[in-house]
Amino acid sequence: MSHLLAPSLLSANFLFLAKEIELINASEASWFHLDVMDGVFVPNISFGFPVIEKVKSMTSKPLDVHLMIIDPDRYLERFVRSGADILSVHYEACVHLHRTVDAIRKLGAKAGVVLNPHTPVHSLENIIAEVDLVLIMSVNPGFGGQKFIDGTYRKIASLKELMLKHNSKALIEVDGGVDITNGRRLIDAGTDVLVAGNSIFSADDPSGMIHQLMSL
Ligand code: DX5
Ligand code: ZN
Repeated sequence: MSHLLAPSLLSANFLFLAKEIELINASEASWFHLDVMDGVFVPNISFGFPVIEKVKSMTSKPLDVHLMIIDPDRYLERFVRSGADILSVHYEACVHLHRTVDAIRKLGAKAGVVLNPHTPVHSLENIIAEVDLVLIMSVNPGFGGQKFIDGTYRKIASLKELMLKHNSKALIEVDGGVDITNGRRLIDAGTDVLVAGNSIFSADDPSGMIHQLMSL
């Protein structure tokens, strides 16, 4: 499978959100990546249901919703109702992860689990067969435009090994500091979905940058 690209709207210009959405719609990008932050799990607050609903109303591309919130169980149904096609929760934020993953799938969305940079891949040993996507954070979550952590490549390799052992078909997604300098190596290591915020929206030509990231 060739790789997918999910531009992160966190780095978009919210004053002209409709224009930014249209830019992604007209581009080769595969999904929209939407970062929901609660100011508790991460030291930042982003956006929630109303914004996700508006994005949904303007696109037919899948919405990849990355929840950086504590106790996500309380809101799973609303996020799916708001338009999430893929809903990812943090391993570190879920006390009963198996139940949470099951609930997301029962709501009809794809279930993703996110690992912070310090969380080892083997933590997923007993859940990997049940998840549709694993999101490896390549920065500490909370902000766009941070520096990519090099240990990510090793983590992808361990995840591949774990997936092989458990016959998992989950997609591997990498999020944080992704750009044209590291994208090819991430794909070679086994990444299926690249998330990119700053490298796309701060580029002089965002559509051109999407094209470059898709052509890696
Ligand atoms: C960080 C978010 C990312 C962020 C990535 O907590 O999960 O999705 O928007 O932005 P860049 O690509 O700028 O690192
Ligand atoms: Zn994200």
